[in-house]
Amino acid sequence: MKLLVTGGLGFIGSNFVRWSLKKHPALRIVNLDLRTYAGNPANLKGMDGAARHRWVRGDIADPKTVAKAMRGVDAVVHFAAESHVDRSILDASAFLRTNVTGTQVLLDAARAAGVGRFVHVSTDEVYGSVERGESKEADPLLPNSPYAASKAASDLMVRAAFVTHEFPVLVTRCSNNFGPYQFPEKALPLMITNWLDGIPFPLYGDGLNIRDWVHVTDHCRGVDLVLRKGTPGEVYNIGGTASLTNKQLIERVRRIMGVPPTLVTPVPDRKGHDRRYAVDCSKLRRLGFRHETTFEEALRRTVAWYRANEAWWRPLKGRKDVKTYYKANYGFGGKR
Ligand code: NAD
Ligand code: DAU
Repeated sequence: MKLLVTGGLGFIGSNFVRWSLKKHPALRIVNLDLRTYAGNPANLKGMDGAARHRWVRGDIADPKTVAKAMRGVDAVVHFAAESHVDRSILDASAFLRTNVTGTQVLLDAARAAGVGRFVHVSTDEVYGSVERGESKEADPLLPNSPYAASKAASDLMVRAAFVTHEFPVLVTRCSNNFGPYQFPEKALPLMITNWLDGIPFPLYGDGLNIRDWVHVTDHCRGVDLVLRKGTPGEVYNIGGTASLTNKQLIERVRRIMGVPPTLVTPVPDRKGHDRRYAVDCSKLRRLGFRHETTFEEALRRTVAWYRANEAWWRPLKGRKDVKTYYKANYGFGGKR
């Protein structure tokens, strides 16, 4: 199989490329990635099966580039996106271009090329904040952040491609991922790397917002299962194994790292901060999905990875554009 993976230099995309090349010895991957601030070729360094992988630097919103990358491709797995909620609050424009227009350009090109399956990787955030219970795939989309709204818009364009053109799309909606190669702007890698440097973690609001944590490899296995066994036109939730408030998450990581409580600084809340996400994944389980990692063990391994791979994250945190972002996001009082 020849797979076009978009966003394969990012956190989840690179974990998926690594995992897939190892798992499927005959698989070939074309990796279309613009290498934005979040894309990093170092994420794929030293992987097994590198000879079956080719990175094409290009924008998913550029029809010419996409048409070229699509040649001879059997299936698409679409990860490329602007993915960080706080950045979407500061400026949503890139989110519309990449997440919405980019997805539409990919759909059109894949359909023109006769691609057999198109997996769109989406998020539990499209359902909005759920105070109790679990979101099911048919629930209404009520996104609250500009990021979530752009992902919901892309989900709807994917649905339209199925209904209008009978194009064989599949959608996954996953909860919060953690693991190696996650950009140190997201809560967990920011927390771990700050604490390795003895710097406090900035906790938004009252710290009682709930997220459901899934190890990135389990997410990759879920996406692969949907690619191979899912029914076209269907949506599949992929949830985690640890539904925790941010305060509870902090306590778990603090215990692993032996960090004092003083290394947490309360800061003003994120604007429109969703209180809780939770998804029902019984549909994916019916396809045969089981989590293979346990939260505590995977969290320990993740902390150990950041400890051992300072050479990966320190240059990122030291970059001028990243420092500018930290300043814009954390550097002033009041609501972000
Ligand atoms: P990321 O920000 O780490 O990586 C995004 C990648 O996309 C980068 O390599 C970047 O260079 C590339 N990219 C961005 N714009 C592009 C463009 N215009 N053309 C080509 N490439 C472009 O993101 P991530 O956390 O790995 O998330 C991957 C996908 O999974 C996203 O679609 C996201 O919405 C979804 N998702 C993420 C999570 C999570 O917890 N991180 C959970 C559920 C779903
Ligand atoms: O739910 C899936 C989503 O998870 C994905 O679609 C997104 O791409 C991904 O970024 C993630 O979104 P969140 O906003 O939930 O993740 P983040 O790591 O930014 O924040 C997790 C929680 O921690 C959230 O409640 C906000 C809080 N937080 C975050 C940061 C960066 C803080 O308290 N302080 C921080 O500095």
